[in-house]
Amino acid sequence: MATERTLSIIKPDATRRNLTGKVNSKFEAAGLRIVAQKRLRLTRAQAEAFYEVHRSRPFFDSLCTFMTSGPVVVQVLEGDNAVAKNREVMGATDPAKAAPGTVRKELAESIEANSVHGSDSLDNAAKEIAFFFAETEIVR
Ligand code: CMP
Repeated sequence: MATERTLSIIKPDATRRNLTGKVNSKFEAAGLRIVAQKRLRLTRAQAEAFYEVHRSRPFFDSLCTFMTSGPVVVQVLEGDNAVAKNREVMGATDPAKAAPGTVRKELAESIEANSVHGSDSLDNAAKEIAFFFAETEIVR
């Protein structure tokens, strides 16, 4: 299996409820290693740039308002098949449709305030990691 890196964001609904450690323990239990991590407050410009692909969606404005409503924790996760594995750990976007045991099933508040973001492909992972981290900030 290939060792991959993926970008994860613990969203404002989760940091507000002090759930960073709970989310991280799920990543680590699944064999994902947190090789970079920082807590920050996204600016509106950063949120809009990060979610640019969703600009035409009806939820875009609300999503950017939510993502700037409190601190986030941005992370690089590393491991075998990290992109797909992280998406398994997160569960479906809509917590109502997420499988039992997943982060979103257990912790998410709504389809928007769904606690975590994870890259959806290896290509996007590379772009999303570069959006937040310099290579020197990622330590195995
Ligand atoms: P994420 O995986 O970060 O990717 C885009 C985000 O948009 C998603 O998680 C949700 O936070 C949000 N989102 C996706 N679909 C909807 C929707 N139908 N209504 C509101 N927010 C959504």
